[in-house]
Formats: sequence, C-alpha cells, structure tokens
Amino acid sequence: MSGRRPRIVVTRRIPDPALELLGEHADVWLSPHDRPLERDELYAAAAGADGLVTLLHDRVDDALLDAAGRQLRVVANVAVGYDNADVEACLRHGVVLTNTPGVLTEATADIAFALILMATRRLGEGERMVRAGGTWTWSMFFMLGSGIQGKTLGIVGLGQIGTATARRARAFGMRIAYTGRRRVSPELEAELVAEWVGELDELVATADVVSLHCPLTPETHHLIDARRLALMKPGAYLVNTTRGPVVDEAALTAALREGTIAGAGLDVFENEPAVHPGLIELEQVVLIPHLGSATIETRTAMAVLAARNALAVVDGKPPLTPVT
Ligand code: GLV
Repeated sequence: MSGRRPRIVVTRRIPDPALELLGEHADVWLSPHDRPLERDELYAAAAGADGLVTLLHDRVDDALLDAAGRQLRVVANVAVGYDNADVEACLRHGVVLTNTPGVLTEATADIAFALILMATRRLGEGERMVRAGGTWTWSMFFMLGSGIQGKTLGIVGLGQIGTATARRARAFGMRIAYTGRRRVSPELEAELVAEWVGELDELVATADVVSLHCPLTPETHHLIDARRLALMKPGAYLVNTTRGPVVDEAALTAALREGTIAGAGLDVFENEPAVHPGLIELEQVVLIPHLGSATIETRTAMAVLAARNALAVVDGKPPLTPVT
C-alpha cells in the first residue's frame, strides 16, 4: 500500500509471532478483552480497518462489513472452518475471505482419534470413576470397552483432516470407509485401503465408528439426525470434531439414552459453549471443549497464516489460502 500503513484489527488476542508479523507491516488494533467482542464493540473496532483478523466466534456478515467501511480488503479468519462468515456477503463487499487449512490437520486428527479411543475404551468414564474415589478392583468383566482392530471407521468427508484421521485408524488396524461430496483420488483410496460408500445412509448403517469431517454448511446442518442415528449399529460410536450443528444434539442425547448407539465423542457442540444437559449425565459420551487445534504449535501456525493472508491482501498481493 502506498502512503499510510494499513490498519489491521485483531478481534481477540492471538499468538505473539502473528501479532509481531502484523505489527511490522501495519498499525494493529488488538482487542483488550479476553472474550469475544460484543457486536457493537466489534463494529466500532472494525470501523476504518483495511483488514480484520477474526476468530471463529466472530460473525462476519453484511453488518460487520458495512461497519468496517469501503476500504476493507480482507477478513482473515483464524480457523479452517468459516461457517461464522457469510461468504456471499464478503463477495458482495469485494472483501477477500481467507481461512487456515493445512496447518491444523494433524492436531485435529489427533483429537478425533483420541475421542475414538476414549469413547470405545470408556476412558472418560474410568478417569471420572478413579478421581471420584470409586471402589474398583481389576476383574475380568470390569469396564469393558469395544476393540477397534478390524472394525470399520466410517469417515464423513475425506478431506485433509479426514485423511489424517484415516491414516491414524489404519495404524490401529481399522478398515476405512468414507463418503463425502466427492470421491478422492485412486492413489489416496489405495493408500488408505478406503472404500467409497456413496450413500451416507449406508455408511452410517455399516460403520462401527462414524467420524465427522465435513464442513458445516446449510446442507450438513443436522446431517446426523434421529433418522440417521437410528440407522447406526447399536454397538457403534459417533465422533464429531467438525462443528456442533452437524449433529442434532437432542437426537443424539436420546439415541445415547435409549442405547440406539453405544457411545460418542464430541469436541464441538450445537450451541457452544453450552452442552445439551442430557449429555452431561451420560457416561458413554466423551465431552471435550473444542480442542481440535489447541496446541501451541498449531495455534501459532494458524495465527501466522492468517496474518500472512491479511498482509498479502492489504499489500495488493494474492492471499495464500483464500476462501473467496
Ligand atoms: C477450528 O475449529 C477450526 O475450524 O479451525
């Protein structure tokens, strides 16, 4: 940009390397609050910005883009998911929207696989029992879980994170079946020994563990509903590390209560941070607080990628990882 330094607004604190990078090239406004900004605070902060660095709890819509003003060039979302952003509104405003794919793939797949192990081996339940000072002795039939070797992992959305989860599952002796918007390359299918199951209904009916890796869109909202839960095997598990609303949480609660499925592992919730009260009461569901990308390394890489996206666009260059 010629003349003045661009103004970049960061809606909540991000790791220092990203802030330092932004600060080298732009005037940075950083929210002083360690919480999501209220709508009016967000609008006030955004006014006059050339770039916004947003978090997944910030709603990026016409109102925010209008509040920012016509000089706004880029919204760099520090997340791979961008369901918090109205893509059409960004296009209408001529604003580039970017996300952070790639850098969180392994961390998120680790959490998906951790949830598979925790749910199938009853680790949350066991840990709670020991902590609570419960009485137990080793016995042949004490707290038996379900082995995963030779079982089928049904992956919904074999993108980067789905693939990384499938690789872990292969190492643990699982078979891979998948569905999604499209079939992956024959090379990847061969590497994962992955079976394409075109129909989601068939996938959920045949998998021993269903792991969700599709983005949240209007089409995937409540993709797993009461009907699909009823199709699942009684001994099957559901794992969700994408976005909460992909699962109908009330229907999942009922399915778990009624034994329609054996268990679940959830990193994300329909109305985060609220969790359906019925889930809290159930031992066979593992509940963790949206930790998919929560490592120091990954969060730093995400923030630096978002900063580089923002700086590229305000400098008139193409973004590294654009959504629009
Ligand atoms: C985290 O949930 C992300 O989308 O990056």
